[in-house]
Amino acid sequence: TKIAIFASGSGSNYEVLERACREGELDAEIALVMTDKPASFVVERARQTEIRVVALEPKAFPTKRAFEETVLRILREEGVEWIVLAGYMRLIGPTLLAAYPSRIVNIHPSLLPAFPGKDAIGQAIAHGVKVTGVTVHLVDEGMDTGPILAQAAVSVVEGDAAMTAQSIHAVEHILYKETLQNLFKSVPATR
Ligand code: GRF
Repeated sequence: TKIAIFASGSGSNYEVLERACREGELDAEIALVMTDKPASFVVERARQTEIRVVALEPKAFPTKRAFEETVLRILREEGVEWIVLAGYMRLIGPTLLAAYPSRIVNIHPSLLPAFPGKDAIGQAIAHGVKVTGVTVHLVDEGMDTGPILAQAAVSVVEGDAAMTAQSIHAVEHILYKETLQNLFKSVPATR
């Protein structure tokens, strides 16, 4: 299964998925990492693992559509079958959604539909919930709204936001590869 990972940040999920592919735990090949943030740390991690980096800044294009058409051309050249979002901080638009229907996956650090959008961990702590978690879902046109594939709960560590965030990330790193492996096994290849 050929996949592209889209990321805008640190790339810890990228790193775990890349290792899982290399070690045969995840039956997939990462064709490329697409980032909208050329200065993000995920670029460094991708280079170290010798995976192709495509860095495209949306502001360099006249429209979101033109941006996504360029991304799409590259994905098609590489034969990418699935798009895996790993900290990609941008809504996927109609062009990519139409080209990859039910073939774009996201991971979000809350139990959706609670706390969608930015800083889900901070939102959960501010709300005072005792349990939050991680959701892996298919991407639709909404913000963190598509069909849920898997969830795992994580207890909030009272008064320790950093520790709570750390537990959430640790759970993400296990849940994402497992969920993707199940998904790729259960859905037939497209091309
Ligand atoms: C993760 O918490 C993920 O759930 C969210 O963005 C974060 C990305 O972290 N969508 P990293 O860049 O993979 O370290």
